[in-house]
Amino acid sequence: MTKAAPTADEPLLGEVAVVTGASRGIGAAVAIELARLGADVGLVQRGDAEDTQAEIEGLSRRAHVVRADMGDCDAAMKAVYEVDEALGRLDIAVANAGMTVRGPALELRIDDFKRTIDVNLTGVFAVSQAAARRFVAGDSGGRIVHIASVLSFQGGINVCAYAASKGGVAQLTRALANEWAPLGIRVNAVAPGYVANELTKPLRDDPQRYVDITARVPAGRWAANEEIAAAVAWLASPGAAYVHGHVLAVDGGWLAR
Ligand SMILES: NC(=O)c1ccc[n+]([C@@H]2O[C@H](COP(=O)([O-])OP(=O)(O)OC[C@H]3O[C@@H](n4cnc5c(N)ncnc54)[C@H](OP(=O)(O)O)[C@@H]3O)[C@@H](O)[C@H]2O)c1
Repeated sequence: MTKAAPTADEPLLGEVAVVTGASRGIGAAVAIELARLGADVGLVQRGDAEDTQAEIEGLSRRAHVVRADMGDCDAAMKAVYEVDEALGRLDIAVANAGMTVRGPALELRIDDFKRTIDVNLTGVFAVSQAAARRFVAGDSGGRIVHIASVLSFQGGINVCAYAASKGGVAQLTRALANEWAPLGIRVNAVAPGYVANELTKPLRDDPQRYVDITARVPAGRWAANEEIAAAVAWLASPGAAYVHGHVLAVDGGWLAR
């Protein structure tokens, strides 16, 4: 599909993005921000994404919802292809969907370890590969943004599978960026710090952990989903045209400490 000309206010006008895990949290904020900048957006998660869909349509952009489990690589790849077919092209892929299983490593079930790697790392590769194949077929390049974590750089507490998966995401970002830059594909990642949303509710519900974490953030507070989405949108935008293989911490200074 030929794309409409972008404008200063809507630099992504005429483009299509796919965002995984777009029903809530960071992914919902990313999908809405990309739509605000002009893109039509495919929303991929296991359940519905009615609220995100309504917000995007309220911005006069198209949204296409696909239900798929990112722990199933075939389903993840098919979801990307479906968005391309339903919305007519593909320019941006944001591999955001993620999960965690908390608990001491001595007690972690091997199945939970494997599931975390499947969803958070192998699923990210499947989405990236499917998107890159479509970018190559369309011969117009593309942008991929992964959602890493400050636990791409640190071990964390009671989240060994999550930390292993997110360390892998950072390395995957660099490896794919190296291979695909010559094809006109930019691959980058955002590494959020602590975001006040559903994923971190158990931490915020634990008074001691909440106080300890908040006290360690130089900015003195947790992030909002929209603050992570702004960084993702920038990496996906023309303003980041020469940024490849970068893992951008958006963490209130957590890693600088
Ligand atoms: N929150 C934080 O502080 C924080 C910090 C660093 C990094 N991150 C990362 O940011 C990303 C988004 O997290 P979030 O905080 O927005 O989490 P969230 O509020 O729990 O949202 C997760 C989203 O992913 C979807 N999802 C979960 N498992 C999935 C699966 N197997 N297949 C497809 N979709 C799945 C969920 O929808 P369904 O349940 O319908 O599938 C939902 O849309 C994750 O990669 C997470 O690791 C978060």
